[in-house]
Amino acid sequence: MPETATLQVRGKTYTLPVVVGSEGEVAIDISKLRAESGVITLDDGYANTGSCQSAITFIDGERGILRYRGIPIEQIAEHSTFPETAWLLIYGELPTADQLECWSNLLTRHEMLHEGLYKHFDGFPSGGHPMAILSAMINATSTYNPDIIRMESPETFQSAAARLLSKTRTIAAAAYKTSIGQPLIYPKPHLDYCSNFLHMMFSIPFKEYEPDPDIVSALSLILVLHADHEQNCSTSTVRMVASSGANLFASCAAGVCALWGPLHGGANTAVIEMLQYIVDSGISVKDYVEKVKDKTSNIKLMGFGHRVYKNYDPRAKIIKQAADRVLAKLQIHDPLLDVARRLEEVALADPYFKEKKLYPNVDFYSGIIMRAIGIPLDMFTVMFAIGRMPGWIANWKEVWEGQSRIYRPRQIYTGPVERSYIPIDQRRPAVAVPGSTTVTGQVVCR
Ligand code: ACO
Repeated sequence: MPETATLQVRGKTYTLPVVVGSEGEVAIDISKLRAESGVITLDDGYANTGSCQSAITFIDGERGILRYRGIPIEQIAEHSTFPETAWLLIYGELPTADQLECWSNLLTRHEMLHEGLYKHFDGFPSGGHPMAILSAMINATSTYNPDIIRMESPETFQSAAARLLSKTRTIAAAAYKTSIGQPLIYPKPHLDYCSNFLHMMFSIPFKEYEPDPDIVSALSLILVLHADHEQNCSTSTVRMVASSGANLFASCAAGVCALWGPLHGGANTAVIEMLQYIVDSGISVKDYVEKVKDKTSNIKLMGFGHRVYKNYDPRAKIIKQAADRVLAKLQIHDPLLDVARRLEEVALADPYFKEKKLYPNVDFYSGIIMRAIGIPLDMFTVMFAIGRMPGWIANWKEVWEGQSRIYRPRQIYTGPVERSYIPIDQRRPAVAVPGSTTVTGQVVCR
């Protein structure tokens, strides 16, 4: 007998199927609930809603576990490269040597942008945020590759996935060069994925950047650790857009926009701003933590807390060790790392953080490594986007392969009940309109 759950609403009982995942996670399938009962479920922020069944990434937030396609993140971080991790996420298995070579060649073949696309960068103002440029340019790329829009076979998918993964890196570096007014640097086919990115970021026409192997492996680690994270805000956005049948590039451009927010990918930038504020203002770490705990301050301890992890984020553990290692090797002393360590110590000993199970997340230490690599603050979230691309592509593929129907949540309406349209000359202002002033009963727009 398949397992079921029962629900009683307004005197009636409904039997609902129970779905069990491969790691024993249990869900109640309510997909037919409204049709049978007229009732929907309400779940603010989707905190308790499984939006899909997915075979890509497993997280156990209580135990601090993260696995890509079943493989623990600790093993992937130690042994894998970014292109290999991307293949694993997208295709479900680690590639053979031949497959990896073919995949790397495909990434190299698609590293260039169409010359027409380079001209778009001239249209952005210097100082334009690279996340805005990245999203716009990823979407614009599809106009130069019409076969992406009519994707029909596994071969066209692979070509589109390789193009997106490879060109995102070229676009990201070009967005940075545009934002600082330097000439754009073309990719070099003999360089690996990460070295090539660093070359396009930091070479200038009269001085070639020589990638340091420690910096290359630190960058690779950052990208690998960000490569997927289950149904987070940006990945759900990609799936939402994909569910309408939108192409891979359009869906992932939307993912970039979702990632930009300070509560999601933008947190890595906010962490550095917070640490810098503590250093510059001279406020003690203890006083800053007290400020965070005071709800009226509206300040959060950035890089702490997670919707899913109620334990130490396993990626934060790996990044913290890497930050110590990379900075020591490069002989960099960063005062922000000292503040971060002290903040962690004070917060983890504080009952507020203990009771709410708030631990450092991936963003708490990642910015420190990116600073050591030489990545400017504005580019931190872009780095996250480059890293998350394999996860977005893998999730887009799952939707494309037919595991999902169009995403279309319901709502509980709380607005006015039915009322009649009022002709304009009979209307009176009921409430002050933001941005306007009421003068003797009239609304004047400023
Ligand atoms: N500092 C202080 N208090 C916090 C923090 C924090 N960083 N995070 C959560 N809390 C408090 C909340 O105020 C809330 O308190 P309450 O129960 O008294 O109202 C309680 O902990 C639960 O937090 P929620 O906001 O309900 O948790 P939610 O799951 O909605 O949010 C989030 C998770 C957005 C990550 C939140 O912890 C946060 O804003 N953290 C800081 C931003 C950050 O680091 N984001 C990166 C996330 S990881 C990523 O996207 C890669």
